[in-house]
Amino acid sequence: MADRLRVGVIGTGDPDAKKSALGYAMAYAHGDGYRAAGDCDIVAACDLRADLAQKYADRFGPAEVYTDYRAMFAAARLDVVSICTWMHLHEPMVLAAIDAGVKAIHCEKPMADTWRGALNMAAKAAAAGVQLTFNHQRRYSEATQIARQLIDAGEIGAIQRFECEFGNIYDTGTHFIDMLSHFNGEVRAKWVLAQIDYRTENLVFGAPCENQQTLIFEYENGVFGFVYSGAPGGSRPLGVVNRIIGEQGVIDWGCGHGPKEALRWRPAGSPEWQHPDTNGHSIHGPDFIERAVSDVIACLRSGRKCILDASNALIATELIFGAYESSRRRARVDFPLDPTIGNPLREMVEAGDLQPAKPAA
Ligand SMILES: NC(=O)c1ccc[n+]([C@@H]2O[C@H](COP(=O)([O-])OP(=O)(O)OC[C@H]3O[C@@H](n4cnc5c(N)ncnc54)[C@H](O)[C@@H]3O)[C@@H](O)[C@H]2O)c1
Repeated sequence: MADRLRVGVIGTGDPDAKKSALGYAMAYAHGDGYRAAGDCDIVAACDLRADLAQKYADRFGPAEVYTDYRAMFAAARLDVVSICTWMHLHEPMVLAAIDAGVKAIHCEKPMADTWRGALNMAAKAAAAGVQLTFNHQRRYSEATQIARQLIDAGEIGAIQRFECEFGNIYDTGTHFIDMLSHFNGEVRAKWVLAQIDYRTENLVFGAPCENQQTLIFEYENGVFGFVYSGAPGGSRPLGVVNRIIGEQGVIDWGCGHGPKEALRWRPAGSPEWQHPDTNGHSIHGPDFIERAVSDVIACLRSGRKCILDASNALIATELIFGAYESSRRRARVDFPLDPTIGNPLREMVEAGDLQPAKPAA
């Protein structure tokens, strides 16, 4: 492999626009990551808007500017590509990158807008020997890593169940459910049972996301998950946070936005919480995407499997689309999830089974 890697970025976004569900310009965090990696040159920037691609090239280049990602792949001889567009574009862009012969693809979360799309990308990348990773960067937070070390050291005994709360299972939930996979040793789930409320339209990066949902699931190693999304008032009134319950202790992680609440744990029977040092970081950052991208590049060079690998991301993605499918069927869904399943939530809306009202202006 060359001493320096040629990187292209698709979907540069506008860093000067207001950060919202209509655009965070995640490509800039990826760009900082490639800089931090030290052995990467961003040689191509692509956005439908040439002015935004040029702005990105001015910041991270020198880079050629493209408005057509297929033209970029044809011309730029890339080793690595970051895909930072909204999720309905992830699958076609990942497949085009594989066809173009890149060595590594780092794609934003969630994996795809359908289950079959997520499976298709992962299978095609594996068959082609292309490293495919998804940006679940919170895996690199101190809180997550220390929690994982406590689990591995046996401090809370065998895990019995996870409890978890967040806004919705698809957009924010992909991070949280993915971290459960990490805590649980990347074991797949066996089944999921879920119920959904979608009374008000909620489009995040163009995709429907439920207002409220509960799900219960069991992993193949017998660990259970109890997850709820969109609880009115968040997790506090329910008295439960993101909790890992072991036979001999409990870990709470990512309990709030402040570093003091990033992680606490206590052995069974102890009234005292212990607060490991998370270096002043919550589970939201800063710098986790830089760490993620640096690790993606280190894994490409060493051949080590990245913790952001598609095979790991599929575990959470199966739970997400499986939960929507469970709501549609009004039944428990056993895994492996039918590989032809698309996006049951969107399809329920399109079929008129769910009729969300337009949100108040
Ligand atoms: N990892 C995280 O914590 C995190 C946070 C926010 C968003 N995201 C994810 O990042 C992804 C991108 O979100 P964002 O907020 O950065 O988006 P954004 O809207 O800021 O940027 C996306 C850009 O893609 C461009 N684009 C659209 N179609 C294109 C095409 N065919 N070819 C080239 N460019 C095209 C748009 O013009 C836009 O500038 C989403 O999947 C989102 O879920 C991840």
